[in-house]
Amino acid sequence: MDLGIEGKVAMITGGSRGLGKQAAQCLAREGCKVSICARGAEQLEATVAELAAQGYQVHGTQADVTSDEDAARFHQETISSLGHPDILVNNVGGRRGSAVFEETTLEQFREGIEVNLISAFRLVALVLPHMKEQGWGRIINISSIYGREHGGSIDYMAGKAGLIAFSKHLALQLAPTNVRVNCIAPGSIDFPGGSWDRFQKTNSPEVVSEFIARNLPAGKFGWPEPIGEMVAFLASDRADLVTGACINVDGGQSKSLF
Ligand SMILES: NC(=O)c1ccc[n+]([C@@H]2O[C@H](COP(=O)([O-])OP(=O)(O)OC[C@H]3O[C@@H](n4cnc5c(N)ncnc54)[C@H](OP(=O)(O)O)[C@@H]3O)[C@@H](O)[C@H]2O)c1
Repeated sequence: MDLGIEGKVAMITGGSRGLGKQAAQCLAREGCKVSICARGAEQLEATVAELAAQGYQVHGTQADVTSDEDAARFHQETISSLGHPDILVNNVGGRRGSAVFEETTLEQFREGIEVNLISAFRLVALVLPHMKEQGWGRIINISSIYGREHGGSIDYMAGKAGLIAFSKHLALQLAPTNVRVNCIAPGSIDFPGGSWDRFQKTNSPEVVSEFIARNLPAGKFGWPEPIGEMVAFLASDRADLVTGACINVDGGQSKSLF
């Protein structure tokens, strides 16, 4: 399906592996020029090389999106090498504290809110002026099932729930400007080097089976490709009028938590 976004510039935070990498892959396949960032140089360079070898136009910046300076540099380098971003995917996120309040420090809670929520604000502030000026833009925020239902660490759940509310608020404000804002709430997605890969490698088969039986109605973990496809769809004109939505890609996982 031609999604009609050929030539658009897409900026994806945290695109060196996992869901962000898959989003970059799917957008690049649609003809977008893609700009990714990550803190770690090695994996970033490998992913940039992999996408370039497939014939895609790709840029990588080593940057931490919890830093104002790094985020601004990522934005500037994207403009210099590919052009102004038309599409922003706020993909970076992760847990900092624990599932238990008493085992989570205020500093960890702050860091969790910073990485899962405030980094998205920071990036939106950088790309929005151009999107509004040209009357076209797409912002896609990657939340989590744990932003909708109970689960994960307390900072992660609060940050991801905040990201859903942030997306909805921004979406309604920007609806008249043709800048569309949506959110995806993935379930448990497994890929080499990801958190569920580590979970399966560091726990006994009994613990893993019990987790799958209790939480995953399909009897298996999800995989990154459907998330990337959903990002590409939401970035397209085919998704025009889809705004302020939070779409679950979770294999029914959210239902199992009730
Ligand atoms: N995997 C799942 O089951 C799942 C489920 C629901 C929601 N999600 C959400 O989906 C998003 C991606 O998940 P994932 O599993 O693909 O994560 P991941 O394996 O941790 O990968 C995250 C990517 O972001 C980069 N990154 C992390 N922190 C960064 C920072 N501060 N600044 C710049 N780059 C940073 C990582 O590279 P570096 O480490 O080198 O920086 C990597 O490229 C996250 O928001 C996550 O919360 C994931």
